[in-house]
Amino acid sequence: MHAVLLAGFLLVGPVFAEEAAADDMAVERGEALSRQVCALCHLVNGSRAGASDAVPTFHAIANQPDMTEARIRGFIYAPHPQMPTLQLPENEIDDIVAYIESLRD
Ligand code: HEC
Repeated sequence: MHAVLLAGFLLVGPVFAEEAAADDMAVERGEALSRQVCALCHLVNGSRAGASDAVPTFHAIANQPDMTEARIRGFIYAPHPQMPTLQLPENEIDDIVAYIESLRD
């Protein structure tokens, strides 16, 4: 009985670990992309090239109570004022969304 439980745990454990690692990689790619395309205006993570205080930081965006994943996606798909039309592939949008969501306190 115990052996069966232990075997089950050993099988399930690494799967969780792999998923967590995949998430971490998405967040890392998202951060790099955000620095490239969003940091022109937004304070992404301590670095902002163009800089204007009128533009919300990514940290502030992530912590707005009504900022759901769908809303973040909407902002990327349908560019907001001043934001150039970006044609990012779906997987890059996923990564940027994962990165912004990782900034939630
Ligand atoms: C050319 C400047 C510019 C670029 C580049 C830019 N943004 Fe923005 N962004 C703004 C401005 C200005 C606002 C605030 C005005 C508004 O909400 O429309 C804003 C607002 C937002 C908001 C909504 C914040 C809120 O409080 O409602 C999100 C989400 C967002 N940007 C995400 C992104 C992401 C993700 C990228 C990169 C893929 C990006 N932006 C690139 C200028 C920019």
